[in-house]
Amino acid sequence: MAVQSIPADALLRDRPPTNRTMIQNMNIAGSDFEISAPLALPLNEVQVWRADLESLRADESRWLSLLSADEKARAARFHFPVDRQRFAAARALLRTILAAYLNSDPRQLTFLYSPKEKPSLAPPHAASGVTFNVSHSGGVAMYAFSRKRDLGIDVEQVRRNSDIEAIARRFFSTHEQTQFFALPAEERVAAFFRCWTRKEAYLKATGDGLSLPLSQFDVSIEPGSQDALAATRPDPAEAARWRLTEVPAGSGYIAALCVRGRDWELKG
Ligand SMILES: CC(C)(COP(=O)(O)OP(=O)(O)OC[C@H]1O[C@@H](n2cnc3c(N)ncnc32)[C@H](O)[C@@H]1OP(=O)(O)O)[C@@H](O)C(=O)NCCC(=O)NCCS
Repeated sequence: MAVQSIPADALLRDRPPTNRTMIQNMNIAGSDFEISAPLALPLNEVQVWRADLESLRADESRWLSLLSADEKARAARFHFPVDRQRFAAARALLRTILAAYLNSDPRQLTFLYSPKEKPSLAPPHAASGVTFNVSHSGGVAMYAFSRKRDLGIDVEQVRRNSDIEAIARRFFSTHEQTQFFALPAEERVAAFFRCWTRKEAYLKATGDGLSLPLSQFDVSIEPGSQDALAATRPDPAEAARWRLTEVPAGSGYIAALCVRGRDWELKG
């Protein structure tokens, strides 16, 4: 694949493991980045990338040139330029990173969509077994990649919303509400977004979206949890089939990753 740009801090694999948070995330911080293909994606790894869409979105024509006709049409439907530019950058980066794993051209990739709209690779690239999921919030996009594993990622910009208690009452399970309302008020905003991103990452991993009732599973809301899927109903064994973990998302953001199976490591 043609060489794209990556900032100096993006390929951290060869650095001494002094900062595990950074090593676990590949961070695309600006348009001037470079990825040398092929990128390795071993079976027991899940690789998480983070992109600063605010720094990338000004290069709109470059990103649009990588998109398919239906993606360009979708971009054109956004009312605000900022949303159009963020979408174009996020989708073009998805294509760029996937193409590096597949040693292909970003423009050559095609996607299939499940009945609930979860995208996956279409043939012939589907045969690689590469799976992925994407999330964006505010000026950040996060991506998770693996081989042959269902996975979901969710990032949220942490913002003060006076309604968090009402939203928690409506969407969180009884167990989650008990944890949440036991916290002092000043700890509730971060706890709310930890709970939300963890629930969302599980929904996205299963691909069910909101067709899976939010009351049918519990997540832990503790900071830094690496095994946060606490219970599933009606099948309690389902919880052990997944690993749900917080992932670093940068200042002002919270993210979670959920992957089928427990025999994998997070790498960046
Ligand atoms: C897609 C969905 C699963 C998540 O949406 P979201 O959080 O608004 O958006 P995110 O940025 O995290 O994810 C969007 C990406 O997920 C992917 N996606 C779309 N449908 C998906 C699905 N059913 N499953 C997994 N991933 C999906 C796409 O790549 C999409 O990217 P795109 O918009 O660039 O095409 C949404 O349909 C949904 O059901 N959200 C539930 C919201 C909710 O009430 N959560 C309660 C938590 S307590």
